[in-house]
Amino acid sequence: MSAATEIARFDPASGGLRGTLRVPADKSISHRAALLGAMSSGPVRVRNYLHAADTDATLGAVQALGARVERGAPGSGELTIHGVGLHGPRELDGPIDVGNAGTLMRLLPGWLAAQQGRSWTLDGDDSIRRRPVDRVAAPLRAMGARIDAREDRFPPFAVHGAELHGIEYAMPVASAQVKSCVLLAGLGATGATTIVEPAPSRDHTERMLARAGAPVERDGVRVTVSPVEELRLDAVDVPGDLSSAAFFVAAALLVPGSRIVLEDVNVNWTRTGFLRIAERMGARIGGELELADAFAPAEPVTALEVEHGPLRGTTVDADEVPLAIDELPLVALLGCFAEGETVVRGAQELRVKESDRIETVVSGLRGLGAEIEGTEDGFVVRGRGAGALRGGRIASHGDHRLAMLGAVAGLASREGVAVEGMEAAAVSYPGFAADLARLLAR
Ligand code: S3P
Repeated sequence: MSAATEIARFDPASGGLRGTLRVPADKSISHRAALLGAMSSGPVRVRNYLHAADTDATLGAVQALGARVERGAPGSGELTIHGVGLHGPRELDGPIDVGNAGTLMRLLPGWLAAQQGRSWTLDGDDSIRRRPVDRVAAPLRAMGARIDAREDRFPPFAVHGAELHGIEYAMPVASAQVKSCVLLAGLGATGATTIVEPAPSRDHTERMLARAGAPVERDGVRVTVSPVEELRLDAVDVPGDLSSAAFFVAAALLVPGSRIVLEDVNVNWTRTGFLRIAERMGARIGGELELADAFAPAEPVTALEVEHGPLRGTTVDADEVPLAIDELPLVALLGCFAEGETVVRGAQELRVKESDRIETVVSGLRGLGAEIEGTEDGFVVRGRGAGALRGGRIASHGDHRLAMLGAVAGLASREGVAVEGMEAAAVSYPGFAADLARLLAR
C-alpha cells in the first residue's frame, strides 16, 4: 500500500446515532448526468452533482472530449454542461483516464462506438485494470464496432467507432452498466436495439434518456431504444444516493439507542433491494418506497427513518442481487448481528467490483470475529445477535465500500475497528467520516 494510506479508528458508539442527514448525491445518476449532458445538443443544468473521485473522473472525461462544464459556487453541486451533441466527441492524443470508475469505463464506450472513423483509448487505476470490459466489447462488436482490449478482456482498451446497427442482445449477466452501454450505442445505430436482462437492474439510464426525448420502451426485462437525431435534457436534479445512505441505515439498525432520518434519498425500486432485505430481517424503516416494476421517467425520493432493533437471518437469491448489488457487503454485516443464518447466493458479480468483494468482505469480517464463509457466488454468515463482533483491523483494499463497511462495523463492535486505507471512501463519499461523527455527537 502507498505511503498515503490512512488508518482511521471507529470505536463502539455507546449512545447510538441521532439526528438528520442529507447524504451525498447519487453516483450512478451523476455519471449519467455528465455523460448525457455531454451528448446533448443544448446546455444541461445539473443540480446537486456528486463531487467525488469517480464522478469527477467523468467530468474530466467529457471535458477532454470537448464538452464545456461551467461550475456553480463551490460546494453547491451546480453545473451547466454544454455538450458536443451525439456526434461531436473529439479524438484525443492520449488515453481517457477513467480513474477508479467502472461506470465511466463501461458506459462511455457505448457513445464512442457510434462515431464512425474515430478512435479512443480508455485506461484507469490498478483496480480498473483488473475489471473486465469484454462484457461491453461483445455487444459493441456485434453492433459493428472494433474493440481491442488487453488480453481481449481488460483495460487499457481501444474503441474504434463505426457505423452501428441495432441488435437484440440477451445479456449473460444482469448489469446496468452493460445495459446502459448498449442503449447509448443504440442511439446512434440504424434500427432498434433491444436488451434482454436476466433480471432487472438499475434503470437510471432509461429514465434519463426518456427525459431527454429518446424513444425508450420497457417491457418486463426487455428494454428497447430507437435511434435519435439529438438529445435534449433541460435539467437534472440529482437525488441522494441510497448506496451511501445504506451505511447509516446499517449503523442505525445495529447500534442500540439509534434513531436517524436520511433526507432526499433516491428510492427508485431498482435500487432499494437492501431496504427490502433489511425489512425482511426485521428492520423498521420509515419512508415511501417506489413500488416494484414502476417505470416513471422521474427519480423518486423519500426521507428514510431508521431505528435500532433486533434482526433475524435471511436468504438473498439471484433475482434480488442486482437490486442490492453494492449493499451486499452490508447484508453480510447485518447478518453477523442477526439471529440465525444469512445466505447470499447468485452474487458472483461481487468478484469483479472495485475489489473481489466476496473475498475482501469475508476475510475482512472474519478478521473482526465474524463467523462467515465465502462461496463461489456469495457467502453464508452465522449470526450471533447483539455483541457479535469483537473488532480489530480491516483493510479497505482501496475499495470505498469496504472502508465504510469497516467504519460501521467499528461502531457496532465490542472493541472498535481500525480501518486501513480509509481514504478510499472519497471515491463516492468524501465527507463520510465527518457525517458519521455528526450523527454520533451529542
Ligand atoms: C452501476 C451498476 C452496478 C454497480 C455499480 C454502479 C451503474 O454495476 O455495482 O456500482 O451506475 O450502472 P453492474 O451494472 O456492473 O452490476
